[in-house]
Amino acid sequence: MSRLHIVGGNKISGEVKIQGAKNSVLPILAATLLIKGKCVLRNCPKLSDVESAVEILRYMGCTVTFEDDVIIVDSQGAKNYDIPDILMRKMRSSIMFLGPVMGRFQKARLCFPGGCELGPRPIDIHINAFREMGIKVIERHGCINCNTTEKTSSREITLPFPSVGATENIMMFACTLKGKTVIENAAKEPEIEDLQNFLNKMGAKIHGAGSGHIVIYGGRELFGAEYKIMPDRIVASTYMSAAAITGGELYLKDVVPSHLSAVLSIFEKAGCHIKKGRDYIYFKAPEKLKNVKTIMTMPYPGFPTDSNPVIAASLIKAKGTSVIIETIFQNRFKYTSELSRLGANIKIDSRVCVIEGVEKLYGAKVEATDLRGGAALVVAALGAEGETYIDNVFYIDRGYENIEKVLKSLGGQIERI
Ligand code: EPU
Repeated sequence: MSRLHIVGGNKISGEVKIQGAKNSVLPILAATLLIKGKCVLRNCPKLSDVESAVEILRYMGCTVTFEDDVIIVDSQGAKNYDIPDILMRKMRSSIMFLGPVMGRFQKARLCFPGGCELGPRPIDIHINAFREMGIKVIERHGCINCNTTEKTSSREITLPFPSVGATENIMMFACTLKGKTVIENAAKEPEIEDLQNFLNKMGAKIHGAGSGHIVIYGGRELFGAEYKIMPDRIVASTYMSAAAITGGELYLKDVVPSHLSAVLSIFEKAGCHIKKGRDYIYFKAPEKLKNVKTIMTMPYPGFPTDSNPVIAASLIKAKGTSVIIETIFQNRFKYTSELSRLGANIKIDSRVCVIEGVEKLYGAKVEATDLRGGAALVVAALGAEGETYIDNVFYIDRGYENIEKVLKSLGGQIERI
């Protein structure tokens, strides 16, 4: 089992190219099941979650190659419509295979993905939407059995909450039903727009992604496509956090600045200087950050829950008190007890996190508690005096490609041992 060894104190500065987005490539990989043919996906990050999705596709009978940043999926031979428990448990987001599997086979058998480190992860919004689309869903013995004979749909589905995964699942299944499906209160995250663009490249007719009102004209013939995955906005916010806590200066290449508006405005409040171009961000942190009075996580275009931990880590040494309110996940703040081992002064009351800025942080032995919580420990360790050892690095590898290599190239003293 590997761990990260970090010696803090160096400024994180330089030029960094941002990897492709995990939360974009995962649904897009699932969507390749909608056709019988070949898709070529570029800018795919090498992550364990991506490997898990590839494993599922191979289990289903697809031929998949993954070289450099290119994944080629040939779904001609897909024949299995079930996903075994062991594969479902590797990645909670495996639920997003439900829509494409139903679209391809009109039946599906998936084990329940269960909860995760962030708290309970129900899938009621997905299931209710599928029922509204004519799918018969039976939940038994921890598994979901679905089938449908419905070939036509002209439906309006109003989501009770703009769930990212449910919006994606509905979009993918609706492509295979004749007629018009409208999703109201759809999630507006940029990853949904990326999925729309990919599906449209495959011959689908979808518009409205990025707004709360998405329209899918289904039943069109779909074919193989080539597509470039968009940049990962959460990874960009992580490297900016690392520069922010160390007083560094970054030039981020291959980013979409508009995807990061809510995050950039928080960094500006903390005293960072930011310049944006079409696909780059110049970021300069002051020697010491100012506190940010309140940050509240919200569905996009609000402040992303996945950036909560890394921003919290960057504010530990800020002047004064910062407050973060988490509205999306119940257990988002687990990582804060590990940050306290480094000397952070953080108090949690249910969904509210109060950070009293401290003068210094000191290296310690800590454990990643989840993906973004693990990234927060890396950020804090870079801003701490002395040595930090981070265990459970496998969480971090779910979402960050070569985190130690990237940070080393930016001046960080970090290695995997
Ligand atoms: N929810 C329900 N019922 C449902 C679905 C969701 O109650 O049927 C609740 C969830 O429990 C959660 C909230 O709604 O409290 C948001 O869930 P959503 O469905 O929007 O999230 P997701 O699709 O499961 C994606 C990302 C997450 C990211 C969230 C929110 C992927 C693969 N995952 O999850 O990413 O935090 O949207 O933006 O796209 C990460 O990358 O670290 C990560 C956790």
